[in-house]
Parts: sequence; C-alpha cells; structure tokens
Amino acid sequence: MIVLKYIWIIQSQLQTLDLNKKVFNMRLNNKRVIITGAGSGIGRACAQTFNREGANIVLADINGEGLAETKDSLNTNRKSEIGLGDVSKKDDAKSLIELTEKSLGGVDILINSAGVSPRNAPEEYDFEQIWDWVIDVNLKGTYLMSHFAVEKMKGSGGSILNLASIIGLVGYNQGMSTGLNPYPHSKGGVVQMTRDMAVGFAKSNIRVNALCPGFSKTNLTEILLKEKKSLDHIESLHPMGRLAEPEEISNAALFLSSDEASFITGVCLPVDGGYTAQ
Ligand SMILES: NC(=O)c1ccc[n+]([C@@H]2O[C@H](COP(=O)([O-])OP(=O)(O)OC[C@H]3O[C@@H](n4cnc5c(N)ncnc54)[C@H](O)[C@@H]3O)[C@@H](O)[C@H]2O)c1
Repeated sequence: MIVLKYIWIIQSQLQTLDLNKKVFNMRLNNKRVIITGAGSGIGRACAQTFNREGANIVLADINGEGLAETKDSLNTNRKSEIGLGDVSKKDDAKSLIELTEKSLGGVDILINSAGVSPRNAPEEYDFEQIWDWVIDVNLKGTYLMSHFAVEKMKGSGGSILNLASIIGLVGYNQGMSTGLNPYPHSKGGVVQMTRDMAVGFAKSNIRVNALCPGFSKTNLTEILLKEKKSLDHIESLHPMGRLAEPEEISNAALFLSSDEASFITGVCLPVDGGYTAQ
C-alpha cells in the first residue's frame, strides 16, 4: 500500500511538472489580444492559434454568426469575448478597444484582419462607392483600431499586426489588374501605415508589423477560386504551386506578435510561397 501511495505521489508531481512546462512554453501566455475579422478566414485561424498558445482574446467582426462559430472552436481554458462592431466606424472601433480593456484588463496585441475586396461588394455599388467601402474597411479601419489600441498600449508597450497583402507590395499580375482596383491601393496604404506607425511608436515600445499573404482560400477569395481554371492559374502564380492555408498565415502572425519578435518592427513580411520573390 505504502509503495503504491509513493508511486501515486511521484506520478502526480510529474503531471504537475508537465503541465507547468506546457503553460511555461505557451508563446502568448495570458496576453490580452483583440483580433478583428475574427469571424472568418485568417482572423479565425489567428484566434485558434493564439488561443492554443495561451492568449485571452476579444473576437471582433461585423458578422455575429461567424464570431459565434469561431468562439465555439476555441479551447475554453482561455477567455474569449465576442465584440460585434464595424472597424470603419470611429465609435465602434473605440468600443471594441474599450471592451478589450474591460473584459481582459488591457490590450497587449491587436491583429487587424478585417478586410474586404471589390469582388464581394454589394451589387448596387458603383465604382466610387466600392472605392469608399474598400478604403474605409481596409485602410481607415486599420487606422482607427490602431489609434484606439495605442492609447491603451502607451506605458506598457504592445504589438500591432496588420494584414496587408502581396498586392500591397507589387501590382496584380497581368490579366488580373484593372489598374483601378482599390484593393491593392488600400493594401499599399496599410504597408506604408505600418512603417510610419512602427517608427512613430518605437519609443513607446509598441511594435507595428504587417503580413503580406499570398492567395488563401477564404470567404474573401471564394468567388475567384471556385472555378478550377481560375484556381489553377492563381496557384501557378505562386512558385510553390499552391495557395496558403490560413494556419500558415496565423503561424507567422504568432511569431511577429509574440515576445520572440521583440526587436522586429516596421516589417512587412510576405507569406506567399515565393510570389513576391519572382
Ligand atoms: N484570403 C487571401 O487570399 C488574402 C490574401 C492577402 C491578404 N488578405 C487579407 O487578410 C485579411 C483577412 O482576410 P480573409 O481572407 O480572412 O477574409 P474573410 O472574408 O474570410 O474574413 C474577413 C472578415 O472581416 C470581416 N469584416 C469585413 N468588414 C468588416 C468591418 N467593417 N468591420 C469588422 N469586420 C469586418 C468579415 O465579416 C470577415 O469575417 C484581410 O485584410 C484580407 O485583405 C487575404
């Protein structure tokens, strides 16, 4: 009996050690994070990756159903709160950051993943309305969220990660470019905003970086990729001959947002299977 008791004590000590090791190894343990566009695609993948790595998260989006699905997919050991709001509206952006501070106790990391493309614009929009919509969500939304997040990060520091695009670094491939598409224009703006904010907030220990993903199959690109011919063509534009999985983008987001990237700011990192290396 006594021998069995000792074996049980040793086993439970080992389990505790293992648990501590896992918690200690988590790369975002107890970080307070807000992710916009968390109701779908890359934002959802970021939520899942960050949750696995120990973060507490506010999931922000205009799509309540998508947010509920994302929340359901997360491990409940960590906190996750739903924040319904439109990032292109000043009052909503402010409320989302306030919600993060209220529910998580502060803001360490902001992921700006909310985004739209003209190909998903409401049918009744003319070209000027499409321009306003795309620039408002992709560029102004990133600006507004960052504006309010920085107010909370000043003093303690933090990290902002913007979802730009390969199309913020280079033009669309011939055949895909109309020259008048506000999507690349908005993403080019996000790239430059990232650099300017990185320099402006460096002394406040707020790092600002961007990811420039290649094409990935999400709601944003569904229309473009559902036809085999178009899918094959777009895959062939990437030297690796395939599209990105959202998780491949969220893994890069994890690194740039974590303390492992503590001396990296102002970087716009392609995650693109070699697209921009050509
Ligand atoms: N999928 C790709 O191929 C790709 C490539 C490069 C960059 N990106 C960028 O990555 C980001 C995420 O894209 P995704 O592919 O996951 O798209 P997605 O459509 O799957 O997700 C975008 C999310 O943003 C939300 N959203 C849209 N407008 C909003 C608003 N005004 N306020 C709050 N939320 C809003 C949508 O409801 C949606 O849940 C975007 O910024 C996109 O431009 C995507």
